[in-house]
Amino acid sequence: MAQVVSVKNTGLRGITVADTKISFIDADKGILIYRGYRIEELAERSTFMEVAYLLLNGSLPGSGELKEFEKEVTAAREVPAYLYSCMKDWPKGAKPMDVLQACVPVLAMADPELAEESREANVRMAIRLIARMPVVVAAWHRVRNGLQPLASDPTLSHAANLLWLLNGKRPDEEMARDLDVCLILHADHTFNASTFACREVVSTRAHMYAGIAAGIGALSGSLHGGANAEVMKMLLELQSEKDIPGWVKARLDKGDRIMGMGHAVYKTIDPRARFLKDMAFRIGKKTGQSRWHELSTQIETAGLEEFKKRGKTEIQPNVDFFSAPVYHMMGIPRDLMTPIFAISRTAGWCSHIIEEKFAEAQEKPALYRPQAEYVGQYCGLMGCEYSPPEDRT
Ligand SMILES: CC(C)(COP(=O)(O)OP(=O)(O)OC[C@H]1O[C@@H](n2cnc3c(N)ncnc32)[C@H](O)[C@@H]1OP(=O)(O)O)[C@@H](O)C(=O)NCCC(=O)NCCS
Repeated sequence: MAQVVSVKNTGLRGITVADTKISFIDADKGILIYRGYRIEELAERSTFMEVAYLLLNGSLPGSGELKEFEKEVTAAREVPAYLYSCMKDWPKGAKPMDVLQACVPVLAMADPELAEESREANVRMAIRLIARMPVVVAAWHRVRNGLQPLASDPTLSHAANLLWLLNGKRPDEEMARDLDVCLILHADHTFNASTFACREVVSTRAHMYAGIAAGIGALSGSLHGGANAEVMKMLLELQSEKDIPGWVKARLDKGDRIMGMGHAVYKTIDPRARFLKDMAFRIGKKTGQSRWHELSTQIETAGLEEFKKRGKTEIQPNVDFFSAPVYHMMGIPRDLMTPIFAISRTAGWCSHIIEEKFAEAQEKPALYRPQAEYVGQYCGLMGCEYSPPEDRT
């Protein structure tokens, strides 16, 4: 019998539960690596398509392989028509993350290879999921606004096509590239809550779509992917606040959190935040919206100062702190910020699902089955005596 180790009630912090070859974080130095490559290098020189290929296949593609992969993703963008019919009946106020999560099993029903269990079939499913997530998010945005969903443009990149599908306007090249870089930065992040949820679900031999639906549910929470929308809420509320340090102090005194700061793993600034901060500065200058970068920087400075006084110097900006103003300046509505995170993270989730299903980083697959200590009512091994409702006092 396996040795029992108690790590209970700590959210598994600091507990290594698996091996992975997909990504790596150096928490003290603030370094993130995908399949051996530094995130900064990928963000500067690569594309989201190349990164998705890298995550799924383990190595960067040659130019022929990349072209083929891009062609496959582009060709897989179309979603079944009944998905649009479903959407038309859904309440217009539904949260985009709920809609996205609900659409995943609908996409599963349309997948001709759902019952296939080979790695190749799972990679093809991953390609379809990566291709279709932006289509679903944009379609819901249009349907809820009484507009017809648009057809994808096969000449546009993944990011540019997403902006086209949302707005019905082809974005300029720089904006499309900036969004592509955001997708690269969010594509994977080791064993975060949503990735763990995906892996845990498929460890039961459930299919990839079941894992992805679980991942979307986990990502939606405000302590995880939902934080970008919360950051934007904070920025909008603080637009005319004169005393940012006073606001930060009061918030922390009350025991509330500064959204977009702190991380379960990093003990220093999140490398993705550093990158997005520069991007927010550049987009702000270009579009005449520098106030968002300035406001974020004021909150960051006041937050760091206040956390230092409280002996919590490790609480620093995370990826969501600057992605929120970046998306806002791109014209992306607040409640689509987390779905955009999901669009990107689908590449990482699918790669982890494949690694889990095919035990690519361990000897053989293992069903996750932790245990909990029972601390509830206990009447001995014979059990408590049952009495009918009318006899209970
Ligand atoms: C992400 C997060 C959950 C990680 O937290 P963690 O380090 O694993 O552990 P905890 O949540 O237990 O926090 C540890 C302590 O730091 C405090 N803390 C952490 N992040 C904080 C924040 N953003 N604002 C205020 N206090 C924070 C907690 O209140 C807790 O204080 P306590 O020990 O006095 O109770 C946390 O930093 C957070 O809630 N951040 C804001 C939400 C966010 O941006 N999420 C996106 C993450 S990418």
